[in-house]
Amino acid sequence: MKIPLVKVYMDDGIKKAVMEVLDSGWYILHERVQEFEKKFAEFCGVKNAVCVASGTAAIFLSLKALDIKHGDEVIIPSFSFIATANPILEVGAKPVFVDIDPRTYTIDPEKIRKAVTKKTKAIMPVHLYGHPADMDPILDVAKKNDLYVVEDACQSHGAEYKGRRTGGIGHVACFSFYPSKNMTVCGDGGAVVTNDAEVAEKVRKLRDHGRVDKYIFDLQGYNLRFNEIQAAIGIKQLEKLPRWNEARRNIAKMYNKALDDLVTTPTEESWAKHVYHLYVIRSKKRDELQKFLSNSGISTLVHYPVPIHEQPAITSLMGTQPTLGNTEKFAKEVLSIPMCPTLTVSEVDYVSGKIREFFKGR
Ligand SMILES: Cc1ncc(COP(=O)(O)O)c(C=O)c1O
Repeated sequence: MKIPLVKVYMDDGIKKAVMEVLDSGWYILHERVQEFEKKFAEFCGVKNAVCVASGTAAIFLSLKALDIKHGDEVIIPSFSFIATANPILEVGAKPVFVDIDPRTYTIDPEKIRKAVTKKTKAIMPVHLYGHPADMDPILDVAKKNDLYVVEDACQSHGAEYKGRRTGGIGHVACFSFYPSKNMTVCGDGGAVVTNDAEVAEKVRKLRDHGRVDKYIFDLQGYNLRFNEIQAAIGIKQLEKLPRWNEARRNIAKMYNKALDDLVTTPTEESWAKHVYHLYVIRSKKRDELQKFLSNSGISTLVHYPVPIHEQPAITSLMGTQPTLGNTEKFAKEVLSIPMCPTLTVSEVDYVSGKIREFFKGR
């Protein structure tokens, strides 16, 4: 048996929607983009969604719209994809790395309190692997210190915090529609979602050269637009997302039951609805286990083997960063095993069985 880590869903409905765009003659920022933005905003429980070229672009344009710039600091977890940090550097600000909570792998609110300085302008929690960060204490620190909260929701489409969907909790939130995500546009794509009409309007201009009219521009902007093919696919994928997230949760239950006594399985806090963008186990024998699974035809990945604060791109710019205990320990132990809504029961059994086989006698 060969089992990939993820499979991108495709059907005739999606292909037909793409063909309709090709025949329409409208390709960029037109009716389908507007329709997808409306539907995605509704899904997140916010007033505005602005679709952009990628999740990274969503973070970059959010920071620009909030006027975060040189001299400012943004607090982020280091246990994330590097795209959480790069846009902060791109606007000229400084990422300040904070350790994670050992249960959820998301930013530790207590550590945020200690990292706030006079230069801090925003906190960017990451809803990592599909589990929401503990937002109430984060919003509390933000309120007391007059900071923005920008959710990096690139891995958490449909995840909930105390009954509210991620994306609608902070001041602004950023999503990615990259192919491996819980929903995709079959290419790069992203969205900024917010209840703040002014921020939404600014992102709308910034993504399109600062345009206010056909050839009138009142901001120095970029070309980070979204296209009609992406929107047509996004509309179809969004319809299926709630069902897919339930399927992911069922697969996670099966894995939990099969693997709980062998490895550390993911936690779902009582206040959270986890959407298992990734199903991540932890083991001190991670590297050996990964090799064993690979030899059994099972694809796995490590998200992420080198934390952001230890990446050469960061240390060469910012110097050696302070140690982050949980982050550095977990980077050596985490392993993402196959997870996608179309994974069959026999595939889950095969993966679980192989992991059991690996630990037998060890
Ligand atoms: C946590 C996180 N932030 C940001 C991004 C950036 O998204 P994109 O790849 O669409 O630019 C990703 C995507 O992988 C991500 O996982």
